[in-house]
Amino acid sequence: MDKQALWYVGEEWVHPHEATLSINDVAVLRGYSAFEALRTYNRRPFHLDEHLTRLYHSAALIELEVPWSREALAAIIREVIERNRYKHAAIRILVTGGESEDSILPIGNPTLAVLITALGERDMERFAQGYKLITTRLQRTEPEAKTTNYLVAIRALKEATRRNATDALFVNERGHVLEATRSNFFIFRGNTLVTPASGVLMGITRNTVLDLAMERFPIEERPIELNELALADEAFITSSSKEIMPVVQIDDMKIGKGLPGPRTYELEQRFIEMVEQGAF
Ligand SMILES: Cc1ncc(COP(=O)(O)O)c(C=O)c1O
Repeated sequence: MDKQALWYVGEEWVHPHEATLSINDVAVLRGYSAFEALRTYNRRPFHLDEHLTRLYHSAALIELEVPWSREALAAIIREVIERNRYKHAAIRILVTGGESEDSILPIGNPTLAVLITALGERDMERFAQGYKLITTRLQRTEPEAKTTNYLVAIRALKEATRRNATDALFVNERGHVLEATRSNFFIFRGNTLVTPASGVLMGITRNTVLDLAMERFPIEERPIELNELALADEAFITSSSKEIMPVVQIDDMKIGKGLPGPRTYELEQRFIEMVEQGAF
């Protein structure tokens, strides 16, 4: 842990080792809180506005009132970046449910925490390998809200690890493939890029990738059937931390040729170019 690190927790600037949260906060007792995870490139936050919009949206979906204005949140985040001199960093914004007397209904104000950790340079090797995923029938609650309830994600990841896979894909009761535990999911069928538009967290990276893909590939935002995976030529996942990551196998089935595909690679290159030009 960086000795100089300074996090903003409950209106104070503290070293991560000194950061505290009340044990009576329903975030701790009941997993009731909203959060955001974004990253910086060269000390600039990636799509901060969109992340703040999603934070308010997530909080509204779980009926959690955020007492901080967008401007106040943005100012704190900029100060976090300023006080920690990381070239690239991951930032978490946490809005807890607040303290409770009966251990379930919050009566106190939410606590705001903004955490930052340094990130290294992009690992280009990752692309050559691609991910192996498993499918899971476990279901997220409030999938369109980003909350700290990652109970099923952790269970699914544990199963993925036991089965020598990197991540798990949620499949709903109708046999629709939704998203991975912390990433959105895409397939290419020929030149057509397909990704679900509901029942998932609307990823900021997802939306950026769709914008980048728009002028190059036909796009279909619609459910992906489980049995459609056999027809996919390529697949990949997206997230703030992973950017674009090819998927080469799902359960026992290879996707396409079982290697990262050329269209995915092209999108990755466009994404890197956009980041490098600071065009975000
Ligand atoms: C369930 C889930 N889906 C998708 C994503 C990807 O979102 P983003 O691209 O905004 O990081 C995340 C990221 O945290 C997630 O937790």
